[in-house]
Amino acid sequence: MEYTTFGPTGMTVSRICLGCMSFGTNWDEWTLDREESREVIERALELGITFFDTANVYSYGESEEILGEVLGEYDRDEFVVATKEYARMREDDPNSGGLSRKALEQELDASLSRLGMDTVDLYQIHRWDYDTPIETTLRALDDAVRRGQVRHVGASSMWAHQFAEALYLSEREGLERFVSMQNLYNLAYREEEREMLPLCANEDVAVMPWSPLAAGYLTRPHEEFDATTRGEHEAELGRPYEEGGGVEVNERVQELADEKGVKMAQLSLAWLFHKEWVTTPILGTSSVEHLEDAVEALDVSLSESDIEWLEEPYEPVRVSGHE
Ligand SMILES: NC(=O)c1ccc[n+]([C@@H]2O[C@H](COP(=O)([O-])OP(=O)(O)OC[C@H]3O[C@@H](n4cnc5c(N)ncnc54)[C@H](OP(=O)(O)O)[C@@H]3O)[C@@H](O)[C@H]2O)c1
Repeated sequence: MEYTTFGPTGMTVSRICLGCMSFGTNWDEWTLDREESREVIERALELGITFFDTANVYSYGESEEILGEVLGEYDRDEFVVATKEYARMREDDPNSGGLSRKALEQELDASLSRLGMDTVDLYQIHRWDYDTPIETTLRALDDAVRRGQVRHVGASSMWAHQFAEALYLSEREGLERFVSMQNLYNLAYREEEREMLPLCANEDVAVMPWSPLAAGYLTRPHEEFDATTRGEHEAELGRPYEEGGGVEVNERVQELADEKGVKMAQLSLAWLFHKEWVTTPILGTSSVEHLEDAVEALDVSLSESDIEWLEEPYEPVRVSGHE
C-alpha cells in the first residue's frame, strides 16, 4: 500500500479509500450482507488500507454499524474514518436530513453511536442544502469540532461557486474550513476538471473522487455495463458515461489494458493515481478480488502519451453527481 498526506490536515491516509456504500442490506439488491462486508473490510486491513468512507444513509445506518463493529476489534487510532450527512434518514421526518443545525447534531450523534466511536476523523456534508444558509451549517460543524466529536470537516458534490463561498465564509468568520472534496470524477466523467479540481488544488483541499470506476462502466466492455445487478441499477440511473466520447474512452481502456496485460479496472484506477489533484480515490467493491485488483493498480505505470491517448476521445457531457 502507498500512503499520502490528506490535504491540509497532516493526517496520513492510504492511497485507496475503501468506500462502504456497498455494506448492509437495507439499501439495494447489489449490496453485501454483514458477513460478506466483514470479509471485504478485513481484507482491506490486511492490504494496508487505513481510510474508510461511509455515510449515515448507506443502508440506513447499517454500513456504519458494520464498519464500526469490525474496526472495533482493532486499534481505532490506526484508522481514518469518514462519514457524511444530508439525505433524509426517515421519509416521514424532514429533520432527519438536510444540513440544519438540528439535523446535523442529531445525525452526527446517531452516526457516532452506530460506529461505536467518540470522534470521527472526517465529517462531510453529502450535498448542498438549498434550504439552510451555509453559514448555519458551518457554525454547527465548527461546534462539533469544538466538542471533539469531529476532527475535520469535508464536503461532497456541489457547484464550485458554492464550495468557494463556503471556503470564503469559514475564513471570514474564523470557522473550521472544509479540508476535502468528495466528487464524481473518473476517465468517463471529467467535468470537474473545469472548475472544482483547480479550485481544490489552489486551496489545498484534498480530493477523494467517488465512483472512480464509473460504478463499473470502466471495468468491462461498455456493452456489458448492465450485466451485473449493480450495473443494471447504474445503467438505469443514467449517468452520462456513454455520452460524448464515452464509448471510445471505454474501448481505449480495453485496448491499453490488453496491451499492458492488466485489467480494465486496474488501468482506469491507474489513470486516477497519475492525476496530481487526486489525493485518494474511494473504491467501491462488491468482492475481495476487486480490492486486490485495486491495490495492484498502484504498480501500473502510464506514460504521458498513454494518458493523452486515454483522454483524447472525451467530450463535455451534462453535469452529473449533484443534479
Ligand atoms: N459522495 C457521494 O455522493 C457518493 C456517491 C457514490 C459513492 N460514494 C462513495 O464512493 C464509493 C465508491 O463508489 P462506487 O461504488 O460507485 O465506485 P466504483 O469503484 O466506481 O464502482 C464500484 C463498482 O465497480 C466494479 N468494480 C470495482 N472493482 C472492480 C474490479 N477490480 N473488477 C471489476 N469490476 C470492479 C463493481 O461493479 P459490479 O458490482 O457491477 O461488478 C463495483 O460495484 C462508495 O462506496 C461511497 O463510499 C459517494
